[in-house]
This record gives sequence, C-alpha cells and structure tokens, in this order.
Amino acid sequence: TTVSCILDSLWNMLSANRICVKPLSSVGSISEEETCERLKGLVQKQVQICKRNVEVMDAVRRGAQLAIDECQYQFRNRRWNCSTVDTLPIFGKVVAQGTREAAFVYAISSASVALAVTRACSSGELEKCGCDRNVHGISPEGFQWSGCSDNIAYGVAFSQSFVDVRERGKGSSSSRALMNLHNNEAGRKAILNNMRVECKCHGVSGSCEVKTCWKAMPPFRKVGNIIKEKFDGATEVEQRKIGTTKVLVPKNSQFKPHTEEDLVYLDPSPDFCDQDPRSGVLGTTGRYCNKTSKAIDGCELMCCGRGFHTEEVEVVDRCSCKFHWCCYVKCKQCHKMVEMHTCR
Ligand SMILES: *[C@@H]1O[C@H](CO)[C@@H](O)[C@H](O)[C@H]1NC(C)=O
Ligand SMILES: *[C@@H]1O[C@H](CO)[C@@H](O)[C@H](O)[C@H]1NC(C)=O
Repeated sequence: TTVSCILDSLWNMLSANRICVKPLSSVGSISEEETCERLKGLVQKQVQICKRNVEVMDAVRRGAQLAIDECQYQFRNRRWNCSTVDTLPIFGKVVAQGTREAAFVYAISSASVALAVTRACSSGELEKCGCDRNVHGISPEGFQWSGCSDNIAYGVAFSQSFVDVRERGKGSSSSRALMNLHNNEAGRKAILNNMRVECKCHGVSGSCEVKTCWKAMPPFRKVGNIIKEKFDGATEVEQRKIGTTKVLVPKNSQFKPHTEEDLVYLDPSPDFCDQDPRSGVLGTTGRYCNKTSKAIDGCELMCCGRGFHTEEVEVVDRCSCKFHWCCYVKCKQCHKMVEMHTCR
C-alpha cells in the first residue's frame, strides 16, 4: 500500500476519525507556516506547535515514515502485519480500539518522532537545536568527549509536546488517553534507556592515541525490537480511581504492576483471521506461511485452520562460490525449486 498521507497518518491513527484531505505528496516539503493549516490531521494545538516549529516538521514527517516501516518489519510474520489501509484511519479500527497493537503503534510513533528530531538536531539541519554539548572534556576512562552527543533531551521534549498534546485537554482523564500517554512515554524510554557511547580513534595508521566519543541513540531497529518485546509482554489494564486521580492498574491483580517501559492495553485484540473491511482488518487469506513452524508464522496458526495452497516457485541463489587469489569471490547462479505456501 502506498502511504500517501504519511504525515496525516501519524495523527489520524492517533485520532481515529479525521479525514486526510491533503496527501503529503501534494504538500511537498513542509517549509511554510501556512502548510501547518493545510495538514488536516492536526488538532489545533498541534497546528500552533507546527507553526512555531516549521523547520522541525520535516523531521516529524520522516519519523512517521520510520514508524510505519518499522511496524511493518516487526509484524511481517504475524496475522496483523501493520498494513495500512487506504481509507482512514489508516490502521483501521485496530488502532482506534485500545488494543495491544494500538499500544505498539503509539509507542513506536512517539519514539520515531523523538529519534528523527534528535537526528535532525545532530546533523545541523535545525537552528533551534544542535548537538548536546553538555557532555564534554575528558572522561574518567581517559577518552575525549567530542562535544557532539545526540541531543535526545530535545527530541524527547518535542515528542512529548507534539505527540502527547492530542491526549491532553478535554477527555484527558479517559482511560484511553491514559493508555496512550503511557505508551507514548514507554516508546521514548526505549531510546532514553538505551543510549550508548560511540567512539572514533585518531592517530597514526589507526592507532588509538586519541579517542573521541559521544553519546548516541540506539539504531531504530533496536528500538523497534525493544518495543516489540514489550508488545509481547504487554499488560492488560483497567482504570481505577485512587483519591482524586485516575490510574491504570493491571486487570489481573496477581500480575506485577507494569513499569514505565512496559506497554499497556485496555481491549482484547480480534483474531485477525477474516477480512472485515469495516474495521480495517485484511484477514490472512493469501498470506505466506511456514509449513514447518509451530509459531504464529506457521500455516496452522497463520491460516486460522482454513488450510493453505502450495506452489512450486523457482528461486535463484548464489552457489558454488570460489575464492580467487587475490581477492575476489566468484559464484554461480543456481536455480532451485522451493515450495511456497499461502493461506486459503
Ligand atoms: C499484509 O497482509 C496483507 C494481506 O492480509 C497483504 O496484502 C499486504 O501486502 C501485507 N503487508 C505487508 C506490509 O506485508
Ligand atoms: C520455517 O520455520 C522453521 C522452524 O521455525 C525455520 O527453521 C525455517 O527457517 C522457516 N522457514 C522460512 C522460509 O522462514
């Protein structure tokens, strides 16, 4: 599916019923304040933030694309494969309900916005932010801080104001708003708690006489893996009133309470077996499955017991590779037949 309303998609999936009036392809790059008015998926407060931060919005758009790509990668072998639908909301009702899948989409989206904005800061693309120069000087380990660490605080703060603003305001104490805010924060924590130190050596012929290091974000694939693990272990919660504040607590009181990094959800997911256009569920007919796997990518589970078709297809592979002195590898092309299975 071509995602034509990529930026709107970020907001539409968060808001459920908005219509994508202006596909981003017709908007071009986001460079003027008036563009903010034309991005119909935004709530009023987001339009204001957009206008005050026009230069940041292109990074937000890249973040939205990252989120969708990563979601589709992480869910490629599952019944719900994070495919977007052409009608809106782009992820269908799956995300409009407080499901585990919705929890993932919110977490990955708020993380991707934080990451993309931080990257834009580090690359010098933005006037409002640059590298984090607060870590500088010589470290206790004896290396030199480069003075250009990823400014994750800026990216996180931007994500907090721009993504979370949808949940603040009226209805902000609804259980769904609490769920979204929690999962948004859990997504950002997946970056914040996994920052690392990267280094470069300087000196004659690769000797490491001088080592400069900086704090860097994890690769987004790692962030996706972490949030997917949280999806697998997500906690079903319900709202409870403690004093005057409303909080989410595990539905099953025997479960240990969730942490800030965990994902939480309110509603059970459908089984995603059958096509249901009204709720944006595509069903698994036609999906590839693995005949020998007992997991969710196996034909039994993927096809929901409906059975599958088998087809012989030819694949071309590299084979009989030989190393030639010096130095290259030459391979032959081999054609082989493999069985492909698709769900009935
Ligand atoms: C997801 O599955 C549907 C069929 O259910 C298929 O048409 C679509 O191409 C898949 N999307 C991705 C991103 O793999
Ligand atoms: C199918 O599943 C088996 C068992 O989990 C695995 O070893 C194999 O690599 C899978 N095949 C493909 C094509 O993914």
